[in-house]
Amino acid sequence: MGSHAGPTSALFLLCCMGTWLSSHLSPIPPLQPSEVQKIIVELQSLSKQLLDDYVKKEKGVPTSQSYTLPCLTPDPQPPNNINSSAIQAHFKTIRQLADDNSVINEIIEQLDKLEAQDAPATNVSVPTDTLERKRFILTTLQQFSECMNLVLKSLNYGTQ
Ligand SMILES: *[C@@H]1O[C@H](CO)[C@@H](O)[C@H](O)[C@H]1NC(C)=O
Ligand SMILES: *[C@@H]1O[C@H](CO)[C@@H](O)[C@H](O)[C@H]1NC(C)=O
Repeated sequence: MGSHAGPTSALFLLCCMGTWLSSHLSPIPPLQPSEVQKIIVELQSLSKQLLDDYVKKEKGVPTSQSYTLPCLTPDPQPPNNINSSAIQAHFKTIRQLADDNSVINEIIEQLDKLEAQDAPATNVSVPTDTLERKRFILTTLQQFSECMNLVLKSLNYGTQ
């Protein structure tokens, strides 16, 4: 060890341990409101894109009253007011049924960032009938899009 190595490594440790600790000790740091806002804006735009694409692809498929996407929770605080585990479960199910998964994967990725720890897994049952399945997907996509509009609106009111 040279005479300069000591102080240099100590400085290195000081500078970099902090960063290392903050990135490793809290694997899920609480999201800042600005981060939540960014994720919601992203999700809202993705949900609209996905819905528009699906409507174009499956022309004339009607929505159905039989399906409900659990969107919001009683918690008034974003991101806790979004039932992201239920939405996540729906999109993981729809991903298995869809031909093009790129947008769905992006949505799941964004939802991952919102997901509370240890959220219980929910099962989503999918209709076996082909047309009914399309109605299920369309209805879910539409409700998700409306859900994101609602959340975004509530966020915007909150920041005014
Ligand atoms: C989220 O949705 C799931 C599935 O419907 C439901 O069981 C759960 O109670 C909801 N969570 C909250 C906090 O509302
Ligand atoms: C989901 O469904 C599978 C297969 O039907 C079942 O084994 C599992 O226990 C269910 N999980 C929940 C959380 O209901």
